[in-house]
Amino acid sequence: MSKGRTGSGRKLGDKSVRQDHFHARAKDAGFRARAVFKLEEIDRAIGLFRAGDRVLDLGCAPGSWLQYARGKVGDGGRMVGIDRVAITGVPGARLLVGDVFAAVPADLLGELEGFDVVLSDMAPDTTGIRHVDQARSEALFERALELAIATLTPGGRFVGKLFQGPDMKRLVELARTRFATVKTIKPSSSRQISIEQYVTATGFQGRPTPGAGAGS
Ligand SMILES: C[S@@+](CC[C@H](N)C(=O)[O-])C[C@H]1O[C@@H](n2cnc3c(N)ncnc32)[C@H](O)[C@@H]1O
Repeated sequence: MSKGRTGSGRKLGDKSVRQDHFHARAKDAGFRARAVFKLEEIDRAIGLFRAGDRVLDLGCAPGSWLQYARGKVGDGGRMVGIDRVAITGVPGARLLVGDVFAAVPADLLGELEGFDVVLSDMAPDTTGIRHVDQARSEALFERALELAIATLTPGGRFVGKLFQGPDMKRLVELARTRFATVKTIKPSSSRQISIEQYVTATGFQGRPTPGAGAGS
């Protein structure tokens, strides 16, 4: 095989080849999905995890983010994952099956008082109709943010996937009402044609006081 070409004759610079490469790399490293590289990149950018952290992963299947988090938080950490799809066998994680729109914060917390990190890599079932997919992604992101606000401890961190669309600015501003620092990241391992972005929020400032207006 000549340098710079795969067995199928495609050039290594081709996007599809780059994606195959991420998939193969994830598999070789024992991770269940190539999505792990996006989390790794986000972690490198903002220092997401600490040893002993309590982590909630919304839309956790097939489990590569939980596998990665486990390596970072160690044996003293605690992890909870929820997805509509059942998964098994992620060491150290309590795995729940369900829809996040029906999930109750107390059930996610179980015996924990709060999470240090809440993650959402949730993606809607896509239709190919851009505005419909964006609206569904925005609803998933907003729900993830709501659950993060309901379960994080002060100082906590949140990462949520969001398809870039008309509501993105509003949702980023919503995150800013409760977190000290909010940024958006497009990981290089994310497909370049994908409209997905990740919103990272650090320095959770606590839940709003009951009865206070939005943004208080
Ligand atoms: C891209 S995958 C997550 C991959 C995961 N981060 C990993 O590394 O293995 C998105 C997941 O979101 C889940 N999901 C989408 N909508 C959901 C919902 N309403 N409630 C729970 N999970 C949902 C899907 O079932 C899917 O497994």
